[in-house]
Amino acid sequence: MKIQKITCIGAGYVGGPTMAVIADRCPHIQVTVVDANAERIEAWNTDHLPVYEPGLDAVVKRARGRNLHFSTNIDEAIASADCIFISVNTPTKTEGEGAGKACDLRFIESCSRQIARAAENHTIIVEKSTLPVRTAEKILEVLATAGREKSFDVLSNPEFLAEGTAVKDLENPDRVLIGGQNEAAIQALVEVYLNWVPKERILTTNVWSAEMSKLAANAFLAQRVSSINSLSAFCEATGADVDEVARAVGMDTRIGSKFLKAGLGFGGSCFKKDVLNLVYLCEHYGLPEVATYWQQVLEMNEWQKKRVAQKVIQNLGGTVQGKRIAVLGFAFKKDTNDTREAPAIALCEHLLAAGANVVVHDPKVSFVKIQADLKHSPFMAKNLHSAESAEQACQGASAAVLATEWDSFRHLDWKAMATKMSAGAWIFDARNCTDHRSLKATGLKLWAVGK
Ligand code: UDX
Ligand code: ADP
Repeated sequence: MKIQKITCIGAGYVGGPTMAVIADRCPHIQVTVVDANAERIEAWNTDHLPVYEPGLDAVVKRARGRNLHFSTNIDEAIASADCIFISVNTPTKTEGEGAGKACDLRFIESCSRQIARAAENHTIIVEKSTLPVRTAEKILEVLATAGREKSFDVLSNPEFLAEGTAVKDLENPDRVLIGGQNEAAIQALVEVYLNWVPKERILTTNVWSAEMSKLAANAFLAQRVSSINSLSAFCEATGADVDEVARAVGMDTRIGSKFLKAGLGFGGSCFKKDVLNLVYLCEHYGLPEVATYWQQVLEMNEWQKKRVAQKVIQNLGGTVQGKRIAVLGFAFKKDTNDTREAPAIALCEHLLAAGANVVVHDPKVSFVKIQADLKHSPFMAKNLHSAESAEQACQGASAAVLATEWDSFRHLDWKAMATKMSAGAWIFDARNCTDHRSLKATGLKLWAVGK
C-alpha cells in the first residue's frame, strides 16, 4: 500500500489547512480537497481564502495548481483516491436521542455512503474530524454496503491543530496519532507524515485509543481553562492577581505554563462539543460520576461568560439601558475569523438583552457573520452596530469590553481613546490583553479579569 493520491472531503478549518500543508510537504502526492459547498471551494481557488490563518496564504500559493486542487466533483475525487480523509463538520445533535450532547454523525454517514458508492478498488479512509469513540465501526458498517470488488481500511488520525496557529501546528506537530487495525494501512499513512515529521513524534495505537485521545486531550485543555477561570473569580475576591498565580503555578514543571490564561471563557468548535460528547458517552456507558465531573468544566465556562457580563452591568451603575458599549474582538481567539462558540456571542447577548447599544469591532470577522451569530437576540436589529476600528467603536461609549486578545488591541492609544469616550468611561479587559498601567494613567476606569 502506497499513498499517491489523497482526497479530503470537507474544505473547512481543518480540511483546508491540513491538506495545504500535506501538499506543500509532499510534492509527489496529488491532493484534492472537495466540498459540497461550491462557494467555499470557489474561495479556496482565489486569493481570498475562506479561512484566515497566519501563513496559510503562502502555503496554498506554493502548492495550488501543482499538487493541491480544490473541486466540487466529489465522486470523481473519491474514485481516483487511494486515501480519503474525512474532515466534515460534526456538530452537537440538536434533536433526537442525545440532543444537546451527543455528536451529530449525519455528515459522516452521508460521506461514508458516498464513498461506498463512488470508491474503486482498495481505499484507506482516514477519520480527521473529531468523533465519538467507536465511530470507525459505524463507518465500516456503511462501507460494507459497497460492492465486493471494493475494500477499505479505516484509520483514526485526529487533528490537534489549534486555530490561529494551524500552519505552525501542522508543520511542527507535538505528535501525530494514527490508530488502526491493519498494520499495512497504518504504515502507508505513517510514510506520508514521515516526509516532514520526525519518526519519534508519530504514535500508532488501536483505533479506539486514537479516537478517545482526541476527546481526552480537548477535555484536559478545556479543564485547565475552566480551572484558571474559576480561580480568576477567587483572585478578584481576595486581592490575588490571576496572572501572577498562573505564572507561579505554571513554573512547576509537573503542571506547565501553557493554557493558564484566564479570560472570558473558552470558545471554538471543539472544546464544548467534545466535552459534551464525553459527558454523553460516560452516561451511555453507565458512568454518571465521570459524566458529572466533566459537565462541571462546561458549567464553569458558562458561568464565566455570564459573570463578566454582570460585572459590566454592575460597574455601569446597575444598568446599561441605552448606553453605548464597544465590544472589541468577536472571534473566539486571536488570529482566526472563526466565531463558533465565541464567548463574545454570549457577552453580546447579555448586553443586548439588558438594553445596551452594542458596537462591535473585530479585525477579521465581518458584520454579516456577527449579525448571523446574534440573530436570536431580540434587540439585535435595533441595538447592534459595527465599527471599522477600535477607536470608532469607542467613540462616545460608556464602556469598552476587550473580548478577544488581538495583538492590535495591545497597542491601543488609551490616552487618545479616553478623549473619545464618555466621561467616567470604563474598560473591561476580559482577556488581560492591554497595558493596564498606561490605561489607568488616562483616568479611564478599569476592571480586569482575575485582578
Ligand atoms: C483546540 C485544541 O487546542 C486543538 O488541539 C484541537 O485540535 C481543537 O481544539 P482551538 O479551539 O482551535 O483548538 O483553540 P485553542 O487555542 O485550544 O483555544 C480554545 C479556547 O480556549 C479559545 O477561546 C481560547 O481563547 C481559550 N483559552 C485558551 C483560554 O481562555 N485560555 C488559555 O490559556 C488557552
Ligand atoms: P471543521 O472546523 O471541522 O473543518 P467546517 O464546518 O469548517 O468544520 O468544515 C466542514 C466542511 O465539510 C464544510 O465546508 C461542509 O460544507 C463540508 N461537508 C459536510 N458534509 C459534507 C459532505 N457530505 N460532502 C462534502 N462536504 C461536506
